[in-house]
Amino acid sequence: MLRFHIHTFGCQMNEYDSERVAGLLIARGWRPVPTPDEADLLIINTCSVREKPLQKVFSYAGRFIPARKERGLRIFVMGCVAQQLGTQMLERAPYIDGVFGPGRESMIPDAAAGETFPVVMNDAATLTDRELFPSQYDTLWQGAFSAPVTVMHGCDNYCSYCIVPYVRGGEVSRSADEILREIHALSARGVREVTLLGQNVNSYRDPDTNLDFTGLLHRVAERSALARIRFVTSHPRDFTRPLAEAFARIPSLMPYLHLPAQAGSDRILGLMNRGYTAAQYLEKIALARELCPDISLSGDFIVGFPGETPEEFAATIRLIETVRYDTLFAFVYSPRPGTKAAELSETLSDAEKLDRLNHLLSIQRSIMGKTRQRFLDRTVTVLIESRSPRGDTVMGRSEHNQIVHVAGADDSALGTFVPARITEILENTLRGTRS
Ligand code: SAH
Ligand code: SF4
Ligand code: F3S
Repeated sequence: MLRFHIHTFGCQMNEYDSERVAGLLIARGWRPVPTPDEADLLIINTCSVREKPLQKVFSYAGRFIPARKERGLRIFVMGCVAQQLGTQMLERAPYIDGVFGPGRESMIPDAAAGETFPVVMNDAATLTDRELFPSQYDTLWQGAFSAPVTVMHGCDNYCSYCIVPYVRGGEVSRSADEILREIHALSARGVREVTLLGQNVNSYRDPDTNLDFTGLLHRVAERSALARIRFVTSHPRDFTRPLAEAFARIPSLMPYLHLPAQAGSDRILGLMNRGYTAAQYLEKIALARELCPDISLSGDFIVGFPGETPEEFAATIRLIETVRYDTLFAFVYSPRPGTKAAELSETLSDAEKLDRLNHLLSIQRSIMGKTRQRFLDRTVTVLIESRSPRGDTVMGRSEHNQIVHVAGADDSALGTFVPARITEILENTLRGTRS
């Protein structure tokens, strides 16, 4: 039987797409294998949000040149770099056998069965199709207890630094009925927690009924057996009171909100085309805390945007100190071809940008060290997902999306909710004992 392996770079939406492609291949008689070494077909799902992940695609793919020569391994590339570079991928890496942009992945099984290579299917026009390609309910997330479900594809926001709208196309929402069918299939198979995914979920609109994202959350909570619901990502500009109220009204909506600020200076936020000021962002945070007082907050930040002065960077630090996030993701600005910001001339050296990143991360480490102390001695509920990689504990996530290693529980706890008293706050995770 033919064997395939998918290696995924990038965001959860890529993880989701990889899973769907795996489903298409399994339906055609292919078998997934855990490493590329055993595979006849290697599919690399790619991310172009910054230059680094883009470079990684080529260095990763390059490793398989010998396997391709010696045992006829075929290498396909899908995802955002496939869309960004198209045929250029083959010029740069002639050992790649096929390139499939987002929305073209459904052609992978046919191409994999065929003999003629290279194939390039990369057509931005098709990205506006309603359902980009179908989910294979019976194979999605086998054995998982927590799974993502994409509710919308693409993005219309055009933040000036961001390549996503160019490589993923405009916003296209899936119908609520379709989303619910998928969730039902997942719960029937033991999934207890679902994360609704989209680049900007609060722009969600059911194409059939015009239901908005808050409405979708309520519907999913009412009509499914899910114990837990989460969502990422929402844009601060579109974070509304009804959405904040959902945290108070829907018991299964977990107290975790990822609300990327990107910067703390109004001038930089304007140049980024984010559509809010730092004060307006803080109002949204206050709104979330008003309706869900103990909510876990998480954010994304970009440092070293073109022209960012030391004072403007200090404003970002001030914002971080004001919000006190439990989790934070920070990136050095990376110019992306075709975006508005790429036309601005860069004013900072790589070393200066890196200095700012390191400073920000050290501030965040000390904040996290303090904010997460509130979990100490608290009993949290953990959805046990796997054995911890080291030691004799099992692990999963708490209501607040914190990773918790739980002692006193074994494999029989997999897929169940275990109450655990937190005994130790580690740098990125928590440790607890079954209580
Ligand atoms: N749609 C989501 C996330 C998009 S990409 C949102 O709007 O929040 C994830 C993160 O990558 C972004 O939040 C941003 O912080 C970062 N990012 C995007 N483009 C970038 C670039 N050109 N350089 C550095 N970081 C970038
Ligand atoms: Fe990119 Fe902005 Fe869309 Fe997020 S909202 S994907 S940062 S354009
Ligand atoms: Fe990367 Fe594409 Fe996601 S650029 S962040 S994989 S949408």
